[in-house]
Amino acid sequence: MREPEDEEWEDNPGYGDDSVPTRHWMEEPRYKQLFNEIEDKISGVLGKGEFEWSDRRVFDSVFDQSTLLALHKLMEGGEIDTLDFPIARGKEAHVFHATSSTGPVAVKIFHTTNAVFKSLSKYIDGDPRFGGLKRRHREIVNVWVRKEVRNLRRCRRHGIPAPMPRANYKNVLVMDLIGSLNEPSPRLRDVTVPNVEKVFNELIKMISVMWQRATMVHSDFSEYNILWHEGEPWIIDVGQAVVEQHPSAREFLVRDVTRIVEWANRNGIKVDVAESLLRVIDDPAPELEPLPGLD
Ligand SMILES: Nc1ncnc2c1ncn2[C@@H]1O[C@H](COP(=O)(O)OP(=O)(O)OP(=O)(O)O)[C@@H](O)[C@H]1O
Ligand SMILES: [Mg+2]
Repeated sequence: MREPEDEEWEDNPGYGDDSVPTRHWMEEPRYKQLFNEIEDKISGVLGKGEFEWSDRRVFDSVFDQSTLLALHKLMEGGEIDTLDFPIARGKEAHVFHATSSTGPVAVKIFHTTNAVFKSLSKYIDGDPRFGGLKRRHREIVNVWVRKEVRNLRRCRRHGIPAPMPRANYKNVLVMDLIGSLNEPSPRLRDVTVPNVEKVFNELIKMISVMWQRATMVHSDFSEYNILWHEGEPWIIDVGQAVVEQHPSAREFLVRDVTRIVEWANRNGIKVDVAESLLRVIDDPAPELEPLPGLD
């Protein structure tokens, strides 16, 4: 089946306008057929399975036309078999537990609403890998997904534990599920770690390896974006990470260190921002073994 181009989406009433219900396009035969092909596979998240959407508008903003097309494509390619249940629901993205032929995966679906385009732009403009072009709104979200993929790979290449990206298409990212079969690992925010000082040192080392070796800054490094998995911190949510050439890279680095120092202080050890920042910048960062899965 031919896929509509971006321009056709933009011709659709409701494109980019959150107030207009967009579902009517599903009455068109080509979409209806496409939806029928994947309906069973996404039934876990349609409100027929265990999960009920309390807000229909949120459902529509996640499973809009382009997203269903993207899911269809990823299912056709065998990257996703079934979309099972939501793991997390946020302003910018929903993350789902999904199953692929090789086991469980996490599927992050970015919303394509106007509010999201605005909040993403400042991390794209200024990053020489992606900036410099005036882009259409929807394209910004697609670039964002590619940016998250590249940042995940960049982390892994430098030995930072982060999920391996498996596939991406438009606003949908498929990656390794950090967790056990059916259960994602908790966020650092939700656990009491056995040895705060040890974990703090580990986190400072990660920021330092990212800065000195990978020349990047996570830019949203906090207890919300670190998963506690098998007794180790894992980094997620790297879409907004920028390379050192970004004009705000140093400002983001200070913010990241500040957040993690605050976490440590709240959890009973005394550390300060200036000294921790010096460790990140000045103490030589170790060269770590790359994580597998990179070509
Ligand atoms: N690979 C993964 N494995 C397991 N759980 C994950 C994975 N990726 C994300 N999650 C879960 O989904 C949540 C949201 O993911 P993420 O932080 O990447 O999105 P987000 O951009 O913060 O969304 P928003 O900011 O809009 O809330 C995480 O806090 C985590 O609990
Ligand atoms: Mg997050």
